[in-house]
Amino acid sequence: MCGIVGYIGPQNAVPFLIEGLKRLEYRGYDSAGIAVCQADGSLSVRKQVGRLSNLEESLDAEPLSGSPGIGHTRWATHGEPSTLNSHPHLDCSGRVAVVHNGIIENYLSLRADLEAKGHVFQSQTDTEVLPHLIEEILKPGGKSHVEAIREALRLAKGAYALGIVFQGETDAFYAARCGSPLIIGVGDGEQFIASDVPAILNRVKKVIYLNDGEVAELRPSGVTLTRLDGTPTAVVVQEVTLRAEAAERAGFETFMLKEIYEQPRVLRALLDTHVDKNGAVRLDEDAEALLAAEMPDIQRILVLSCGTAYYAGMYGRLLFERWVGIPSETDLGSEFRYREPRLPEHTLVIAVSQSGETADTLASVRLARTMGCKVLSICNVAGSTLLRESDAALPTQAGPEIGVASTKAFTAQLMAFVLLTIRMARLRGIMSEARERELTAELARIPNAIHRVLERQADIRAISQKYYECYNALYLGRRFNYPIALEGALKNKEISYQHAEGYAAGEMKHGPIALINEFLPVVCLCTPTADEVYDKMISNLKEVEARKGRIIAVVTERDDKARAFAQDVIPVPETIEEYSSIVNVIVLQLFAYHNAKARGADIDKPRNLAKSVTVE
Ligand code: AGP
Repeated sequence: MCGIVGYIGPQNAVPFLIEGLKRLEYRGYDSAGIAVCQADGSLSVRKQVGRLSNLEESLDAEPLSGSPGIGHTRWATHGEPSTLNSHPHLDCSGRVAVVHNGIIENYLSLRADLEAKGHVFQSQTDTEVLPHLIEEILKPGGKSHVEAIREALRLAKGAYALGIVFQGETDAFYAARCGSPLIIGVGDGEQFIASDVPAILNRVKKVIYLNDGEVAELRPSGVTLTRLDGTPTAVVVQEVTLRAEAAERAGFETFMLKEIYEQPRVLRALLDTHVDKNGAVRLDEDAEALLAAEMPDIQRILVLSCGTAYYAGMYGRLLFERWVGIPSETDLGSEFRYREPRLPEHTLVIAVSQSGETADTLASVRLARTMGCKVLSICNVAGSTLLRESDAALPTQAGPEIGVASTKAFTAQLMAFVLLTIRMARLRGIMSEARERELTAELARIPNAIHRVLERQADIRAISQKYYECYNALYLGRRFNYPIALEGALKNKEISYQHAEGYAAGEMKHGPIALINEFLPVVCLCTPTADEVYDKMISNLKEVEARKGRIIAVVTERDDKARAFAQDVIPVPETIEEYSSIVNVIVLQLFAYHNAKARGADIDKPRNLAKSVTVE
């Protein structure tokens, strides 16, 4: 939710600010702005509502240059998208410029106090209180800029990642973090800040992950970190292993399409990391240690996550019950944190998140921890808040996911659940070595199966051309394919804006059947064929057919029953039921993609959405 960048060094900050913001635009694109300290010390701000390209045009027409500089791309929370509400925000005298990702929860009372002291505000944002507060603290004189920032942040409640520049100070700028992600890129005689690593990947290979409650003073020569009370903290510099190309489109028309096509490679890499040559699963050391210590006592598993990651959690739950034999439940982060949960002793929490920064997931994990739960996280972003707050991790290592709609991170989450549950079942002694080998051998076939689905892209596009103008779509699946029906519908909604409902096929008769007529496309997940729920799906197809619904069936290549009822079929390679979800979802990703394309939507940046939702 909002992206921020900053630079100090011998170069003009502006080209980097724009380049960094381009890479962060997936976090929000309601407006963009920069503030730059020019060579004469004057502070210049430029902002434009709408896409970053508007800001670029304005800078082309009237260039700015200088260092340090900060930049922001906004996903509006407080105040409509407008130039006035765009960041950077300034104090009354235009001497302090602030970019912010997060929410200052007590901004109304802070603003009232400042207005009483004569401050005049320009925007409706929560952020604007910060430059005014810093200005107020500096007024009597005697305090340094960093002292004023720390004092202001002691008064502000809420979440923030901040970049701050001051008029007349060309040799330093500042950053701070509490609850929203922020990293510092360490260069040679230059320093960067950004909301995530890909934004600075082609500039630096060393980063500092700022901790909550830390304020950074960045100078070309180095970085100093302090806590809000002024005590210094150690600067820990880490090497970045990601390659810059990982965040580029590599010739694909969108990041989403590129990420869909990356899935065979991503899943193969995950397998290679965790399955040895004998077909045995081994997790990372911390996860092995956690499971070794906890397995004998675990009474219950609780999976916490949001959105697409929640559907991965629903899938995980089925595996925990089927293979590990431990009672499991899933909950949405946004519900769990407010539902006064009662957790039995020895509940193991599995948190799932692509970004590791989703506010509701983090809050629910923190709540579970206060109740004594250990937390293992399935997460894609190294150094994220979730990983740092977990006892152990199963990194999905899918690489940067830039498209707002999650694809490769989702299938990597599904595979992570497979690996985790096989390992837990073995540790529990309820899965034989032979069965483990059988399951990992079948899992190793999944990347190729996905490849075969990708080869059907043209057919899937052709089918989507028939239905993209419909107002609604229904997605049906059972058991392991029920979460996939939900995910397929979500994917379609978020990128094509075509209304779609995902439903457990058996529930259709309890309501949604009323929707069915000759105008409703019904996407039915009918794999695998050799499965007890397959026949139930066939009954559901008959029910849809009888009401003239237009059936699009995802079937196995050798299927001969389901296809008889469908107007359109998409054949996929056969695998076991547990893995059919990983194959089927690829069809639904491509179907949503081509729907969205035909409807002329901006696929990588769907309206109103942001990649990571770091606010409630
Ligand atoms: C996925 O397509 C969505 N954009 C969204 O539902 C996402 O999965 C959700 O916000 C959770 O994000 P996370 O995985 O980063 O925690």
